[in-house]
Parts: sequence; structure tokens; C-alpha cells
Amino acid sequence: MSAQPQESPKIRQMLERDLDAIMLIEKEVFLFPWTRGNFEDSISSRYHCYILEMDKFIFGYGVMTINLDEAHILTLSVASAWQRAGWGEKLIQHFISLAKEHHMNSIFLEVRKSNLGAAKLYEQIGFKKIGFRPEYYPAMGGREDAIIMALAL
Ligand SMILES: CC(C)(COP(=O)(O)OP(=O)(O)OC[C@H]1O[C@@H](n2cnc3c(N)ncnc32)[C@H](O)[C@@H]1OP(=O)(O)O)[C@@H](O)C(=O)NCCC(=O)NCCS
Repeated sequence: MSAQPQESPKIRQMLERDLDAIMLIEKEVFLFPWTRGNFEDSISSRYHCYILEMDKFIFGYGVMTINLDEAHILTLSVASAWQRAGWGEKLIQHFISLAKEHHMNSIFLEVRKSNLGAAKLYEQIGFKKIGFRPEYYPAMGGREDAIIMALAL
């Protein structure tokens, strides 16, 4: 008996039926996770919602909006066991291509001030820190600032 060859990981559009798997990752990687409703609203609003999948196993996802000439990455996650293997970067590059196809001038995102790993990834791709949103995020025992980052396309 021979083992079935494994499918290569792929990026595809997020569907409602993916949300059980997505919520497991969301609760694993974020202390203040999005709700299932946030993802349902993103899909029904036709935001650009994509997942990372291999052999029907979902291991990451992200959501981006496209408005006028600006895109905004609202969330991006890779399951803990799959981190530091280049998948976060691949998903961002996918969003960059999509934003370019839609003739966007720039992509914006917010990142927690304490999330040094994510900020490093964004800076490596070319995002610049352009400002702060004071006390933007809930945090243990208070609020935390967001750093606003932008990539000119
Ligand atoms: C942030 C996140 C999406 C990055 O995804 P990833 O697949 O682990 O990132 P990549 O493997 O593509 O990282 C590429 C490079 O970014 C930098 N980087 C990414 N995560 C890092 C970390 N935790 N610490 C330091 N550098 C990091 C490194 O330079 C890395 O290259 P290297 O592994 O060769 O050193 C992922 O860690 C995650 O889902 N974290 C929890 C949720 C989160 O914080 N989301 C972002 C909200 S703004």
C-alpha cells in the first residue's frame, strides 16, 4: 500500500463552512479574538477573505477590504504550529497582488505595539510605520496602542 501524495498548500477564498476551523485558530493565537460574527460579516460584505489550506486542513487566514484607492488588511493569522515557515508572508503577498489588480495606491494595517514579530514581518515586506492609534486595542488590565503601517503600491 502506498501513501497518498500530499497536496501542496494553497490559498483560496474563505467560505462559511471554514469558520469552525478558523475560530479554533483565532482563539489559539489571539487573546482578544474576532467573533464568528465578525468573519460572517466579512464574508457577506464581500471583503477579500482568504485561507491557507493543505489537504483540507486550514492553517491560516486573512481579511482585506478594498475601498476607493486604499486597501486595509483587517486581520491575518497563521496557526501556531505553522508559524515561521513563510506562510504569513505568502498570504500578505497574495493580498498585495490582489490590491494591485484592483489598482489600489496603498495598503494599510494596524498592529499592536507589543506585537514585534508581526511588525517585523510587515517592515520586511516594505510597510512603514506612519502613526499611532492610542489605546486602540483591549489588553489585559487596560488598553494598548496600535501602530498604523502603510505600504505604497
Ligand atoms: C504574525 C504572523 C501572521 C506571521 O506569520 P508567519 O507565517 O509566522 O510569518 P513568516 O514565517 O511568513 O515570517 C516571515 C518573517 O517575518 C518575521 N517574523 C514573523 N514572525 C515573527 C516573530 N514572531 N518574531 C520575530 N520575527 C518574526 C521573521 O523575520 C520571519 O522570517 P524568519 O522566520 O526567516 O526569521 C503569525 O505569527 C501569527 O498569526 N501570529 C498571531 C496572530 C497575529 O499576531 N497576527 C497579526 C496581527 S496584526
